[in-house]
Amino acid sequence: MRVEPAASLAGDLEVPGDKSISHRVLLVGALADGVSEARGFGASADTLATAGALRLLGATVELEGETARITGAGLHGLAPPPGPIDCGNAGTLMRLLSGILAGQEGRFELTGDESLSLRPLERVAEPLRAMGAGVETTDGHAPLTIEGAPLRPIKHELQVASAQVKSAVLLAGLQAGDGPTVVVERGPTRDHTERLLEAAGARIGRSPRQASVWPAERLRPLDVDVPGDFSSAAPFIAAATLLAGSDLRLHGVGMNPTRTGFLSVLDRMGGRVSLFNRRSVGGEPVADVEIAPAELVATEIRPEEVPLLVDELPLFALVAGLARGESVVRGAEELRVKESDRLEAVKDVLRPLGVRIETTRDGFRVRGVPARPRGGATVDAHGDHRIAMLAAIAGAVSREGVEIGGAESVAVSYPEFFAVLDSLALR
Ligand code: S3P
Repeated sequence: MRVEPAASLAGDLEVPGDKSISHRVLLVGALADGVSEARGFGASADTLATAGALRLLGATVELEGETARITGAGLHGLAPPPGPIDCGNAGTLMRLLSGILAGQEGRFELTGDESLSLRPLERVAEPLRAMGAGVETTDGHAPLTIEGAPLRPIKHELQVASAQVKSAVLLAGLQAGDGPTVVVERGPTRDHTERLLEAAGARIGRSPRQASVWPAERLRPLDVDVPGDFSSAAPFIAAATLLAGSDLRLHGVGMNPTRTGFLSVLDRMGGRVSLFNRRSVGGEPVADVEIAPAELVATEIRPEEVPLLVDELPLFALVAGLARGESVVRGAEELRVKESDRLEAVKDVLRPLGVRIETTRDGFRVRGVPARPRGGATVDAHGDHRIAMLAAIAGAVSREGVEIGGAESVAVSYPEFFAVLDSLALR
């Protein structure tokens, strides 16, 4: 895929439904009694893997345009299929489903693609074993087998800031004994699971560093509108900020504060992003976003801020490359175990395009200059959708464009990404 330089980005856009929420609506809906409906569902390779997995387990999932309907199997009604359940590239599916299956009757095998099979699973297996499930990983990775069991509640302290691990433990806790299961966090991570479980009638406790769930007898079906995915909006926010003359509006974007760290960072760099029409959609804050171009200055990202923009840090590296001064990210070692080693992948993509970036053990440093990077190279997406989108935006803001190998990986979260970018770019 070739991306030519753009003069600016202009127009109006609605990004697809949030991927994290779309996964969770299906997963929680599969445990409910009755039919759940989600409008604005974000269909992508990842969320289709979740739909496929749940069908194998006995739930009915119908997708019609942007509407998903799930007929739940009830809290204890999922049953093992004859063979393994393929989670594809979706870490969220593999980890959250593990928490659900820990309390269901039977033996389940979960597999994933090459990238997912490299990602750490002991962080989920360990608390689920402590709750009483039989969980075996393959040297800490997929394939994973789960022998469901009656669960006991635990208090679990997260060793890494991970909403996926927190969610897995909460989904198991929903099925555990007669007391609350508690997850202690070092800092906030995305809280979509807590919000959706509450909407399904579960008793959830929340304080700044802790989330708890009480065992439920049943869940009621969900009826929600899924907000636009902030992480799919972010590439366009970055591009419109960097391209002089841009005039871009994004409508109905999720503004959950555990997701919008990229906006706070852009704001202190001098970005000009305005939010309008703030409202609540499906139990989540949503707004329309207007982006004007801006000249940026460097900034530093501290470890406690990382979870709030964990999937936008690759884009931050690019934005920092065009900001005056040296930017630094620390405490982002988790990026090494995402869909690719995102610290090295970001460097491999941005350096040949002329961005001065160095990786460190737990982050990166960028020496920014307020001018378009050279571009004019061929780079590889490392089989990672967020890296493919980073490369595309880097090409659009460069002087000579970019050639991207493996660009089709955008389908994992945003199948129409390249067509949308092309329709907004003025040459
Ligand atoms: C996700 C949580 C994050 C994020 C991922 C989606 C989720 O992972 O990087 O893309 O839906 O819970 P961790 O919570 O493991 O950091």
